[in-house]
Amino acid sequence: MSETLLKSFETTWVPRINTYLDENLRDCSDREILTAAIRYSVLAGGKRLRPLLTLAVLTSFDQPVTAANLRASVALELMHTYSLIHDDLPAMDNDRLRRGEPTSHVKFGEDIAILAGDALQPLSFQWLADSGLPATMVAHLTLGLAQASGPRGMVAGQVADVKNTGHQLALPALRQLHREKTGALIHYAVAAGVIQAQVADPVAHELLAFADAFGLAFQIYDDILDVTSTPAELGKATHKDADEQKNTYPELLGLAGAKAALKTALATATSALQRASKDSQRDFELLASFLTYFTD
Ligand code: IPE
Ligand code: IPE
Ligand code: MG
Ligand code: MG
Ligand code: MG
Repeated sequence: MSETLLKSFETTWVPRINTYLDENLRDCSDREILTAAIRYSVLAGGKRLRPLLTLAVLTSFDQPVTAANLRASVALELMHTYSLIHDDLPAMDNDRLRRGEPTSHVKFGEDIAILAGDALQPLSFQWLADSGLPATMVAHLTLGLAQASGPRGMVAGQVADVKNTGHQLALPALRQLHREKTGALIHYAVAAGVIQAQVADPVAHELLAFADAFGLAFQIYDDILDVTSTPAELGKATHKDADEQKNTYPELLGLAGAKAALKTALATATSALQRASKDSQRDFELLASFLTYFTD
């Protein structure tokens, strides 16, 4: 589990992802304000973790990344950015800072922020559809992205989040909320790699088990960072979940309990990769290196 492996993968791919987004969002609309709002949030930065996961799966299977693979992989960042713009709206988390910049609604107004999110969603599917990948692959990716982002995925988790604010959920319901609001898109990120690299079971199944444990860990860690970090470090407000009475791991289990739950999720992710290695005779050190994200 090497941190340098992740760092060098990021050094290779984050600039390419960013350049791709910049070049391909220049003429995304002929409404100037809409193009500006879309570019503002997408290009504000962000770790690009979800497309990186997809590309890491392709790399793990020695698949060269074609222009079609890149377009289909980066498409997820559009869906993710839409989820952030809407998550920050006054009616949702009411946040004013995102990716180190004022949130979309602060900068452009609520109407344009909502519409920028609305536009990013179909644009994400458009980039799958016109990626140039084989039609059956596009169909599988489309289904996966729709399921992950839709009413049984990310949006279901967001509903559970906003509707249970001020009402403490028990652990199974909280875990489910985290798996939906954050885990679903991360599941899809790995699934997108599995589909494009044409990975078969049981290895596909094991990589998705890794994704699910990683996704849960990611939201537990986000909850922990809200308690332990600063806006300067995260580029978004902190110490906010408790004030807003959000359902989080530290709220329910305390900070130590949340850290223990994170450790359990990371162990589950590691053992899934070990099984995938054994069954495929491949090395998943690159995917394992993504777990170093959680060392604070
Ligand atoms: C933030 O996601 C929202 C959560 C699911 C916790 P990221 O932490 O991946 O945000 P960016 O993309 O790096 O800004
Ligand atoms: C984010 O959960 C989930 C989605 C954006 C779908 P949070 O509300 O905890 O994310 P942050 O902390 O605002 O990034
Ligand atoms: Mg939220
Ligand atoms: Mg939020
Ligand atoms: Mg959060």
